[in-house]
Amino acid sequence: MENIKNYKAKQFNLSKLNGISDQTLEMHFKLYEGYVNETNRLTEKINEILKDGQVDHEEMPAYSELTRRLGFEYNGMVLHEYYFANMTANGAGDPDKASSFFKAAESSFGQYGIWKADFVSIGKMRGVGWAICYEDPSNGRLSNHWITLHEVGNVAGFNPILVMDVWEHAYLLDYKPADRPKYIEAFFSNIDWIAVEERLRPGLEARHTTSAK
Ligand SMILES: [Fe+2]
Repeated sequence: MENIKNYKAKQFNLSKLNGISDQTLEMHFKLYEGYVNETNRLTEKINEILKDGQVDHEEMPAYSELTRRLGFEYNGMVLHEYYFANMTANGAGDPDKASSFFKAAESSFGQYGIWKADFVSIGKMRGVGWAICYEDPSNGRLSNHWITLHEVGNVAGFNPILVMDVWEHAYLLDYKPADRPKYIEAFFSNIDWIAVEERLRPGLEARHTTSAK
């Protein structure tokens, strides 16, 4: 196995979105790079402590703090990668009715409209965080979740399918803080449903069609 020491920031070919300015995106890419750098830096510091094969009493407070922060930085890095990758300048507000995502939303929520109302409403929740639609890898069921900061509320082992950043930095250059719903509307118009579709695990699709009735 290749020895992967450091993460590298991914490049996202993203501009000319609808209602989310290039200025916002550029600022946001820089913030994302900060999470990549911090993930690497914290990992290095933890490795430094572990070098002698133990965490001694004096090291424990620093080791604990570094390890707690690692969850924040790691999720900050990964969630931004999902977020940028599920947008495109050629986006569309809603998925195709014949798509696996649409079928999964219908079988999980009864109607696609209910899935959307849930996801959008989670995005409007007060606080700093994310709205994320996950797929349960055991049965293909979709569920929407509020994630506080980057790390509180992620469901272990679940597959992120659609990820929306609702931290204020995601829209503050384009909208007033109270206008988060306008940003959410803009986000929806830029969704890359093909990228979303590709995240669904193959083989679970049959379960939606048989469990939809
Ligand atoms: Fe962000």
